[in-house]
Amino acid sequence: MKALIAAGGRSTRLRPISYTLNKHLMPLANRPMLSYVFDRVAQAGITDVIVNVNPGEAETMRNVFGDGSRWNARFTYVEQQGGAKGIAHAVANAEPYLRGDSFVFFLGDNIMAGDISPLRRRFEQEGLDCLVTLSRVKDPNRFGVPEFGADGSLIRTVEKPDNPPSPFAVTGIYFFNDRYFDGFKTMTPSARGEYEITDMITWFIRNGKVGHEEITGWWKDTGKPDDLLEGNALLLDELAMDETSNRGTVDDTVQIQGKVTIGAGSVIGPNVLIRGPVVIGERTRVEQTYVGPYTSIGNDVVLRNTEIEHSIVFDGAEIDCGKRIVDSIIGSKTSIRSTQQSLPRGHKLILGDHGVVEL
Ligand code: DAU
Repeated sequence: MKALIAAGGRSTRLRPISYTLNKHLMPLANRPMLSYVFDRVAQAGITDVIVNVNPGEAETMRNVFGDGSRWNARFTYVEQQGGAKGIAHAVANAEPYLRGDSFVFFLGDNIMAGDISPLRRRFEQEGLDCLVTLSRVKDPNRFGVPEFGADGSLIRTVEKPDNPPSPFAVTGIYFFNDRYFDGFKTMTPSARGEYEITDMITWFIRNGKVGHEEITGWWKDTGKPDDLLEGNALLLDELAMDETSNRGTVDDTVQIQGKVTIGAGSVIGPNVLIRGPVVIGERTRVEQTYVGPYTSIGNDVVLRNTEIEHSIVFDGAEIDCGKRIVDSIIGSKTSIRSTQQSLPRGHKLILGDHGVVEL
């Protein structure tokens, strides 16, 4: 079995951050989002991994993740011809690499707690053509949704329906065999101009043997800023106590509570309270500051005279503002200063397009 990972797309809901950084490279608990997907695939014993990327982005992705040897796998980066024409199209684009094999198709912006090995086993043992995974959600209209018949059998799946026929999302972890490519020949783009994976699943339901399974444990599609924060929190919660470590310098005035990881070269103190789960990267300085639960602080960050919690701070940011920052995503090299330091007093903002500030 092979794996195809979708790491292309436009990520418009994550602007302005996604203007300068592919969303799959955004740090969650200080690791690029996509690395958690690679973890899951490697855990299932899959070593041949195809990574679908936008045209022109193969080199960037290869520079970050390399050839796959870190996961004992072989990665092939494939650019999606014609760009982001839908995730069903991303699969069709990778046909030369997948023909003749079964594969797990994993959306690169989906993170989950569980191991996918049991799903792989079920797909193989039952000789399925397609296996879809479901998760009960509050807002199924944001997702692909399954519709069941009176006997509980799967009738079809429908993309982002106004009136969802069930309370489930079809998650972005699918297993297919290579009959996929026969089905794709019959597909046309949807009203939003994309080849929909839900149409492919419906094709399989009508033309093959399809299994479905509710996944236990958490699952998150990190499509929007709030989802990034929630994904970050879920991953920080998973920090095992033995991963808690301090490779930095922490002075006597610092209080550390709960699970906290501090990277090499970071200097913490004086007068700092860190209440985990928290990760702090390398060469970061924290002074006169409270860092609250569910916060990830990157490398080379400066935090001074600040309170911050449930937030993600990217590399190189500087925050020294005497204020409490919550539920925030602070981009790379961003500076947040106190208005006390310059006249006239007032909120002075330099914001990129699609920036969001709540004052
Ligand atoms: O997360 C689960 C949902 O993912 C499913 O319930 C939906 O049925 C499925 O269509 C998909 O919906 P999204 O609206 O979340 O898809 P999105 O456009 O965010 O793309 C999902 C991933 O695939 C993301 O990592 C980007 C990547 N992608 C997307 C497109 C459109 C590509 O690699 N190529 C593409 O052309």
